[in-house]
Amino acid sequence: MKCLQRLTTTHLLRRVLENQHKFIQLLQQQQVRSCSTGRLQEAIKPEDEDYPQLKTIDPSTSYYPTSKPFKHAPEVGDQFTHSQLAVRLAAPHQLHPKPDADDLVFGKHFTDHMLKIAYHRRLGGWQKPEIMPMENLVLHPAAKVFHYAVELFEGMKAYRGVDGRIRIFRPEMNMARMNASAQRSGLPTFEGDEFIKCMSRLVTIDQEWVPHTEAASLYLRPTLIGIEPTLGVASSDSALLYTILSPVGGYFTAGATSMGVSLLADPRYTRAWPGGVGDRKMGSNYAPTIQIQKEATAQGLQQVLWLYGEDHQVTEVGTMNFFMLMVNEQGERELITPPLNGLILPGITRDSILHLARDWKQFKVTERTITMFEVKKALYENRILEMFGAGTACVVSPIERIYYMGENLMIPTLDHDEPVWKQICTTLTDIQYGKIKHPWGVTID
Ligand SMILES: Cc1ncc(COP(=O)(O)O)c(C=O)c1O
Repeated sequence: MKCLQRLTTTHLLRRVLENQHKFIQLLQQQQVRSCSTGRLQEAIKPEDEDYPQLKTIDPSTSYYPTSKPFKHAPEVGDQFTHSQLAVRLAAPHQLHPKPDADDLVFGKHFTDHMLKIAYHRRLGGWQKPEIMPMENLVLHPAAKVFHYAVELFEGMKAYRGVDGRIRIFRPEMNMARMNASAQRSGLPTFEGDEFIKCMSRLVTIDQEWVPHTEAASLYLRPTLIGIEPTLGVASSDSALLYTILSPVGGYFTAGATSMGVSLLADPRYTRAWPGGVGDRKMGSNYAPTIQIQKEATAQGLQQVLWLYGEDHQVTEVGTMNFFMLMVNEQGERELITPPLNGLILPGITRDSILHLARDWKQFKVTERTITMFEVKKALYENRILEMFGAGTACVVSPIERIYYMGENLMIPTLDHDEPVWKQICTTLTDIQYGKIKHPWGVTID
């Protein structure tokens, strides 16, 4: 009986602590404030008969997650598990006010907690995961991350669905990509499923930060850095894996009228090269792009279209994968994206679009090299229909204009009544916000 009483008290105490932000606000006679505009409630519910339901998905289709067990190098040592997770909740004075979903600027606001997992080879490998109040990191100035950019990261989102449940999108793919980046950086690899469970707990604790609107979401930034305080260019025997959360607005919501983007395509600059790390999500890939983005902005253009090689191959657009819908030389409609040849980041949105489009069977779907010569020729022959970038941040971003070698190439992406980019955007966001039941939308509660 005593044991039962203690259990109930512990359980109650935990509930109180996890919901402390609500109690404090109630005590202050305020309405419970969450990242909300209330727009979600107006959204069409999945049970509405007008809402297009996706066909029942056959478990043998490629939509089902296929996370293969990761093969760690023996020297990595012990792995962490989510069952070791320790939670230290923020004290009332450490809680931050939540911004309105309408005022969200990408990556500016952060939630109350973070997840940290240390790695020390001399202590046997990965240490116990810990959720704690958001805090600054204290690192030795010689830490390898500061000198040789021993750093990698991921970008994922948690969405509050129309059913009120929180979902993340194909997280096993982020984990596979993160481990691939860790391997290339000489950083320790980890069990992706365990890390997903730890991050899900973090999101659950900070759940009121997941915007109550389809126009926004909670961005997850898992990061892995080498922290060994020695200046040798060598693998780091100590590392820190952490996740911070930031509520972010959508670039635009599906169905909304949106403007196409304009691009600078300058063959003097390249983002990735064969044998390099363009296919890994490492911080060192991004710093050298900042000046070129500034140049594009100075020319009144919004993003950079990254080219490679003497034949000016189109690789990526800004921090998105590139897609082109055209009528090919044989007169067929064809959706094309550059192949995963080492120059291209294997985007989760890219992979999802390829799966959906192949399943729709409305047009040919191809992964092949596209050159600016082909783009120009097809454009003059009126065979280009749409171009768009695709990524977690904006889902799909239609392209309207490319400034290339002194010429403005006008792309008719926005000239169609029912464009493919919009069909893709709607389907993906419907899965993410739970309007379409789909194995890619993983509920975390
Ligand atoms: C260079 C680059 N390409 C493509 C993408 C799109 O990848 P994902 O769809 O996984 O967000 C990103 C964003 O992560 C990126 O940084």
